[in-house]
Parts: sequence; structure tokens; C-alpha cells
Amino acid sequence: MYPRCYDPRMRHAEFNDPRLVAVYDAECPWSRDDDFFLSVVNETPAARVLDLGCGTGRLALGISAAGNSVTGVDSAEASLAAARVKPGADHVTWIVGTSPYLPDA
Ligand SMILES: C[S@@+](CC[C@H](N)C(=O)[O-])C[C@H]1O[C@@H](n2cnc3c(N)ncnc32)[C@H](O)[C@@H]1O
Repeated sequence: MYPRCYDPRMRHAEFNDPRLVAVYDAECPWSRDDDFFLSVVNETPAARVLDLGCGTGRLALGISAAGNSVTGVDSAEASLAAARVKPGADHVTWIVGTSPYLPDA
């Protein structure tokens, strides 16, 4: 079941296909870009972080594991399903949707 904001015609619909999600995960491991984003977050101790378009959660989980409070949001339910079963996923708040679905504050 998708929230009202989900439109299967949207661009990036491949991120809602479980087979392609698995391919994406295999081809996109942690990279130097992620090192950079994590270093920026680490400038603020115990930061609260929103990862909008978090996909399968690679960066959200890495930032969470570093001791930060993370919310991961993505419109593709299949990508979030992959994120939710990864180690450490219980420490991240996952939301299926787009920016209008974000909680206050
Ligand atoms: C290129 S992937 C990047 C995923 C992740 N940030 C990463 O680095 O692996 C782009 C992601 O943005 C999501 N996305 C696209 N439009 C979105 C929107 N309007 N709101 C939330 N997520 C969106 C897609 O479902 C996809 O998971």
C-alpha cells in the first residue's frame, strides 16, 4: 500500500522494483561521497539527520551507526523494505513518502 503521494509514473520508478533494488545495492557500496557526507554530519555531535531519498539506506544507516538520530524517507517502498532488514535498521526512523509526509520539526 502506498501513501497518496506515490505515483508509479514518477521518475526513478526502478527503485520500487525489488530485483533492481538488489542490483542497485550490489553496485552502490559505501563510497567517498558517503565519507564526505558523514564527515559533515560529524561536525555536529549527536546530530538529527533527515535523509530524503534515502533509497536502500546505505548512508542513513552509516550516519545512524555513528551515533546520530536519523530519519530516512523515500517514495519507493521496495527500497525501504531493503533498508529495513539491514543491520542497525531498528535505530533509524523510516518513512515511505515524499517531503510533505515529514513529521513536524
Ligand atoms: C539515485 S537513488 C539514491 C538513493 C540513496 N540516497 C543512495 O545514495 O543510495 C534516488 C532515490 O530517491 C528516491 N526519490 C525520488 N523522488 C523522490 C521524492 N520525490 N521523494 C522521496 N524520494 C524520492 C528514489 O526512490 C530513490 O530511492
